[in-house]
Amino acid sequence: MHERILDQAAGLRRLGAPSPVNVIAITGGKGGVGKTVVAVNLGAALAAQGRSTMLLDADLGLANVDVLLGLRSRLNLEHVVSGECALDDVIVTAPCGLRVVPAASGSVSMASLGRAQHAGLVHAFSQLLEPLDVLLIDTAAGVGDAVVTFSEAAQRVVVVVCDEPASLTDAYGLIKVLAKRQAGCRFEILANMVDSAAHGRALYEKLMRACHRFLGLTPSYFGYVPYDEYLRRAIRGQTTVVEAFPSSASARELARLAKAASGWLPAPGARGGIEFFMERMLRPRGAALESAAG
Ligand SMILES: Nc1ncnc2c1ncn2[C@@H]1O[C@H](COP(=O)(O)OP(=O)(O)OP(=O)(O)O)[C@@H](O)[C@H]1O
Ligand SMILES: [Mg+2]
Repeated sequence: MHERILDQAAGLRRLGAPSPVNVIAITGGKGGVGKTVVAVNLGAALAAQGRSTMLLDADLGLANVDVLLGLRSRLNLEHVVSGECALDDVIVTAPCGLRVVPAASGSVSMASLGRAQHAGLVHAFSQLLEPLDVLLIDTAAGVGDAVVTFSEAAQRVVVVVCDEPASLTDAYGLIKVLAKRQAGCRFEILANMVDSAAHGRALYEKLMRACHRFLGLTPSYFGYVPYDEYLRRAIRGQTTVVEAFPSSASARELARLAKAASGWLPAPGARGGIEFFMERMLRPRGAALESAAG
């Protein structure tokens, strides 16, 4: 009898529990390849398709998601981590419906946060009551600790590349670092600023072959975003190309990418809500921090 009641309770919890959030890190290794542009526009496209989407600016040194979207924010992630305010207080909503967690433009690095601050971050995300379909994370350039931590906390890692030798070698280096630390990490290659679909596919194949040969893994092809003057015009107007020029070549591809990303299934065994992200944020830092998470 007792067991039956427990079973029922578990069933009810499952019914009422939010489904796992699709956590996607946008990274790339090299600077200036279009990570933030992709993150912001993919977020806008997902929001336009009715997905409840939040974008976390994890470029803690040079945060600029808010600038690209023309948003004003007095509070940011730094205030959340220090306990000055709740996560809800810093979230700003862009006109397209995309919710943004702005980061500090100061010098605080997530990699150097202490135990209490980690607990603060976890606490902040655990307080997030609104249901989310997708959490996008815009990371900084390079392979620093913060980039690695946020990428590891994601279910998918979108690696943005453009047709420059340094972009491909940096992307390869980043994949190598992440794959070594976390077996089974799922990489999605996005070719940005390319001339055509064939150009995007060729870039992907170059990188995929190197990964296959030297790392023994095969990243997937997410798709491409063409080089587009309309996208640059949208940036100058501090808006997204998805909203300003929805029939432009880049906006159409971004809408396709958003549809594809919506279909990504959560990691096997992922728990409901934002818990997956929180757990993974803490996991690499050892048992002490795990206990801080409660
Ligand atoms: N598809 C595109 N078409 C035209 N221009 C683009 C495209 N993607 C990016 N750009 C240009 O590249 C610039 C850099 O993009 P973005 O700031 O997103 O790069 P990033 O990878 O986030 O850089 P950082 O490493 O400094 O964070 C944009 O301001 C824009 O001018
Ligand atoms: Mg950026």
